[in-house]
Amino acid sequence: MCGIVGYVGKNDALPILMAGLTSLTYRGYDSAGVAVVNGTSMHVVKCAGKVGDLAARLDGTTITGTTGIGHTRWATHGEPSDVNAHPHTDSAGDFAVVHNGIFENSNELRERLRAQGCVIRSQTDTELFAHLVALNYDGSFEAAVKAALSQVTGAFALVVASRLHPGMLIAAKLDTPPLVVGIGADELFVASDISSLLRFTKRVVILEDGEMAVLTPKNVYVDLFRAEPVIGRRRPASERVLSVDWPADIAERGGYPHFMLKEIEEQPRAIRDTLRDRLLDDGRVLLEEFALPPSVIRRARRVLFLGCGTAFHAGLVGQYLFEPVLNVPVQVEVASEFRYRQPVVGPDDLVVAISQSGETADTVSAVRGVQERGATVVAITNVVGSTLSRIADHVLLTRAGPEIAVASTKAFTAQVVANHLLLMYLAQYRPHQHDKLLYQVGQGLRQLGDAVERVLARADAIKAFAERLAEHEDVYFIGRNLDEPIAREGSLKLKEISYIHSEAYAAGELKHGTLALLSPGTPVIAIATQSEIYEKMVSNVQEVLARKAWVTGLIADDDTELRGMLADSLVVPRVNDLLAPVPNVVALQLLAYHCGVARGCDIDQPRNLAKSVTVE
Ligand code: AGP
Repeated sequence: MCGIVGYVGKNDALPILMAGLTSLTYRGYDSAGVAVVNGTSMHVVKCAGKVGDLAARLDGTTITGTTGIGHTRWATHGEPSDVNAHPHTDSAGDFAVVHNGIFENSNELRERLRAQGCVIRSQTDTELFAHLVALNYDGSFEAAVKAALSQVTGAFALVVASRLHPGMLIAAKLDTPPLVVGIGADELFVASDISSLLRFTKRVVILEDGEMAVLTPKNVYVDLFRAEPVIGRRRPASERVLSVDWPADIAERGGYPHFMLKEIEEQPRAIRDTLRDRLLDDGRVLLEEFALPPSVIRRARRVLFLGCGTAFHAGLVGQYLFEPVLNVPVQVEVASEFRYRQPVVGPDDLVVAISQSGETADTVSAVRGVQERGATVVAITNVVGSTLSRIADHVLLTRAGPEIAVASTKAFTAQVVANHLLLMYLAQYRPHQHDKLLYQVGQGLRQLGDAVERVLARADAIKAFAERLAEHEDVYFIGRNLDEPIAREGSLKLKEISYIHSEAYAAGELKHGTLALLSPGTPVIAIATQSEIYEKMVSNVQEVLARKAWVTGLIADDDTELRGMLADSLVVPRVNDLLAPVPNVVALQLLAYHCGVARGCDIDQPRNLAKSVTVE
């Protein structure tokens, strides 16, 4: 995934582009660049490295011009380098393009353009688009871009600037990568997400699939470059203006050393916001944005969770909740695998697609696949106007606010809370024998923000433990029942933030092979808060202790048995078993965070990763 920004208006573009790119670095950070149009000249500066490296390259230059585009990259085609950085231009330097996504027909295009005499300088697919625009240019900037768009396939978002047309930008989008137009006073913006525009405007138009927008300082109009819109209803841009009520600084770091720590500590608010006005005092759940017909709920013969990474883990938590209460089989699938398995899916399937960004290509494609087979799709997502929120049949928005750190934290706990809300909502329309359990869940949800605050209050103890753990290169996480998905999530957090190798196992599975990897002193984090299978967990811990591994318990504050057995424990407040995933994961998020800090890792922008993977 990459970050795109564009400006056309009354002010100098460069400072606006750089501010936008700074907000977008979470989307990709291996190279960056800008192109600024001033009269009939265009100045392109780009380099490998982060936005800060680009700023250093620009330091001392005086680039003026009120039209420009910028890009921060997560490499797909071609290594991070100066020449592969965006913007890319045609040979004459008349057009510059920034691009997020992939042109799937780039190999054929490259050969065709070379045969037409184009000199291709980079390894990227993006550069080819600049050449296509130039080849199709006959005086109309818009017609040239539209012609070029008809010759590329794939999922992409792009913006083109031209020194032949100062005061104009052309933006286009197809499939997953998002593109948002910001509307100011005699100035227009375009960016990959809403939060990077908030410092300039709160009035936005979200481009839909197959749409191309022509931006000038006083106007934006949107046209289709595909015969039919892939999704969504066509409405004039003026009718589609959204006013975003997020505070302008919500995506700022607010004095925290890292976005990840800020977002870990925002979780009590994110949980309370996600519950607000939905969980009623009498235990009923009201999902105002929902129109899921009770007949669909009653007809459902299976629930299928789809997601990737952390979102997949939220689905695993959902499985433990949904199956007993709804009395239907519940399946949880990694979207990237599921979609290529020729799965048997039909109208009696209720699919819950979980995605923080709502732009993960694998999840979006899997959703399109199940919809083609007649399934009803509920999306649990954190981004208003995201692709997933627009293609799903029903949407349950988490209200975690923008999540900037690549490591998903507050979105995950909000997803788990949304799962609980969805379960309680569905249960209102299906016969079951679990009124008492659901009542307890409702009570527990109300106290969940407080429970997380109590974990956050233990951060110093977790930090001290993390600094010892950070010296190791292999860490194992084990758990059972609802602690097992959290073992997986804790392991993923540790890997992506501290680069420590880690594996997660169902505790009962360890003895079937992986126990062979444990030697004296190997760190094992044993998550043991599920009361129903606690004694089984104690036995598993004893199996590991017998191999002299270094076992640390993640245990409830009323646990005396394991606390007495283990030299080290991470203590969390006791909550209802069905809610334990939330305080437990917060402790493991802090553990991963402090391990990463102790190892000097780049916390918010871990190597090789991006916040949302909008390519397959
Ligand atoms: C989580 O910490 C990771 N950054 C990653 O696994 C992420 O959860 C996954 O890419 C799915 O993203 P989504 O929720 O935006 O679909």
